[in-house]
Amino acid sequence: MQIFLDSANLDEIREAASWGILSGVTTNPTLIAKEKGVDFQSTIQEIASLVDGPISAETVSLDAEGMVREGREFAKWHPNVIVKVPSTPAGLKAVSRLASEGIRTNVTLIFNSTQALFAALAGAFVVSPFVGRIDDIGVDGIQLIREIADIYRQDPDIDTMILSASIRTPRHIVESAMAGAHIATCPFKVLEQSMKHPLTDSGIERFLADWKARQ
Ligand code: E4P
Repeated sequence: MQIFLDSANLDEIREAASWGILSGVTTNPTLIAKEKGVDFQSTIQEIASLVDGPISAETVSLDAEGMVREGREFAKWHPNVIVKVPSTPAGLKAVSRLASEGIRTNVTLIFNSTQALFAALAGAFVVSPFVGRIDDIGVDGIQLIREIADIYRQDPDIDTMILSASIRTPRHIVESAMAGAHIATCPFKVLEQSMKHPLTDSGIERFLADWKARQ
């Protein structure tokens, strides 16, 4: 399973990329808005210069026409740009139009497996089920990943990838991989948490103490 960073913060992206584990980046309007005063296009282009992989940029139109217009524009910014559209009927229309023009899409805000199936049938490059937000309402988000993986496996014509989104904990990464996700997109904090273990820290301390005390 691949790891993407869910962030528009260039420092975080630079740092995670330097670990050698990043295969792509996802953004959304909230993440872009958090980076005060930045220009959307230049942020996406800067991200694409730091990470050689799919970079999701999200449309804000509600109608298919608008999504297609925005998507065509984003696709000119960099060949690695993936156009993110919401899982709505207008979103499906936009996906099928953009796919026919060779523009790759990420169907986002997926909360059930029919949404994921329809997105794949419309020609989505990737779908984003929101694991954490499903857990937040007391339902099992990882179960949705499992269902989508089962459904996609049964149709040899589906090559849409499952991008596990709204990741809140290191455990979500592990369970997404085991449930059949191709990608997990993670906030930087969760990547840091994933590399933290008290036994790693105490092990380093002990090795250093023994090294210093050697005869
Ligand atoms: C996915 O691409 C979204 O940007 C993201 O994972 C949403 O996560 P949140 O629920 O933490 O906002």
